[in-house]
Amino acid sequence: MSDNKVLIFDTTLRDGEQSPGATMTHDEKLEIASMLDDMGVDIIEAGFPIASEGDFAAVSEIAKNSVNSRICGLARANFADIDRCWEAVKHAKQNRIHTFIGTSPLHRAIPNLTQDEMADKIHQTVTHARNLCDNVQWSPMDATRTEWDYLCRVIEIAIKAGATTINIPDTVGYTAPAESADLIKRLIETVPGADEVTFATHCHNDLGMATANSLAAVAGGARQIECTINGLGERAGNTALEEVVMALKTRHDIMPWTTGIDTTKIMAISRRVSTVSGFLVQPNKAIVGKNAFAHESGIHQDGMLKNRENFEIMRPEDVGLSGTSLPLGKHSGRAALRDKLEQLGFEVGDNQLKDIFVRFKELADRKKEVFDDDVVALVRADSGEDEDDRLQLVSMKVVCGTGGPAESTIEMEVDGKDMSATAEGDGPVDATFKAIRQIHPNTARLQLYQVSAVTEGTDAQATVSVRLEEDGVIATGQSANTDTVVASAKAYIHALNRLLVRRDKVGEGADAKEVSYKDLA
Ligand code: KIV
Ligand code: ZN
Repeated sequence: MSDNKVLIFDTTLRDGEQSPGATMTHDEKLEIASMLDDMGVDIIEAGFPIASEGDFAAVSEIAKNSVNSRICGLARANFADIDRCWEAVKHAKQNRIHTFIGTSPLHRAIPNLTQDEMADKIHQTVTHARNLCDNVQWSPMDATRTEWDYLCRVIEIAIKAGATTINIPDTVGYTAPAESADLIKRLIETVPGADEVTFATHCHNDLGMATANSLAAVAGGARQIECTINGLGERAGNTALEEVVMALKTRHDIMPWTTGIDTTKIMAISRRVSTVSGFLVQPNKAIVGKNAFAHESGIHQDGMLKNRENFEIMRPEDVGLSGTSLPLGKHSGRAALRDKLEQLGFEVGDNQLKDIFVRFKELADRKKEVFDDDVVALVRADSGEDEDDRLQLVSMKVVCGTGGPAESTIEMEVDGKDMSATAEGDGPVDATFKAIRQIHPNTARLQLYQVSAVTEGTDAQATVSVRLEEDGVIATGQSANTDTVVASAKAYIHALNRLLVRRDKVGEGADAKEVSYKDLA
């Protein structure tokens, strides 16, 4: 590997997916993995195989389907985790076991191990992993808050036991750029055998410094960046893949490192991850936010017309945004829609195209111009409904005014049976959710209800995300419609359907409670 190449290790499907509410279905995980592979991600951390039957099945299948990427699974520092991980990743042409243990004083206290006992455990588990797989990554979790001498000692043990990559996690997003660079540099200079392995950086964004810390770590000698699409991840998230990759590309003059990422695939995967995780991208998010390439103020527009470089440091095409794009209208046909979907990076099969086209026609009848963002929302809505769903919205009528509560009448099909209910509520959405609950009684708690307008204007579509939690199981639903209340009802029903699917799986013998990688017992 050239000294200037930085490996991109994507953990959207592990650290990202582990974030509460970001749960993806099996098929969604396979689809995201295939997109990551296709865009040139070097290593895909596909999941945590011992956590659940579902995680194991997803990692195994991703491993079987992998083309160019190395497939990695996560394992805590015990033989059972490592064996399970190997069983899943062994199917890949290139595989990796990633094993870790918390080494900081706070994290050592969780399993209540002395420094010596932990050192011994690291030696045994890394040796065991290396006996199974010739590519082993080891992480001292909370490395940035681990005592310097102890950190050097355990890294040396891991290297001697056969680790090929040493990852330095900033688990709680505590470090800062100068410190991040210095830590990696000093470790490489100090630890015997460090020059034989790859050093990786894994940053969390609690102080908003994950991208800067990761790039600084590369300056210090790290040659693998761990990141997620859209910065998905627990709390403030992980380092965003699109940010580090575009920073390295755009400022190659001062950061002379390259990645193997095809940056034109960034927007498509960003949209897809947002859709399947239910985590909307903030409009002003670097690189992939809706406004990242929008130049709205008069001065900016004038400057842009004179010379794009006045205000644009990256070309929209470089991240996969089509340049100027004409809206579709009610006379646009199926071929034009397919063309637009391809431009936006969506590959849809004939059946999905048929469904999206029906919705497109309905939308175009209500709205004069159907913009790119409307089309993205249509795809989003399409992935939110399925004719096999047990709960289907048939019709709804809402009455609201200034004088009293709103009233909503809902007709649904539940397992093929027609049912209806009317409820009053504090506003139309509250009344609608209450009516749905009368039809399908449940104890799911509403964790998130989020509405955003897709485009401008009063005829804009609204995208609604709903996150529900019931008995520790979390499910997200989404929908888009020019009527916010209809979109809300559909998003709520979508989330309920996903909860039902997960509950059915538990009934079939799958794990009711998943293991968290932070359960260190
Ligand atoms: O943040 C962290 O420390 C992790 C480890 C499991 C590498 O995600
Ligand atoms: Zn992490």
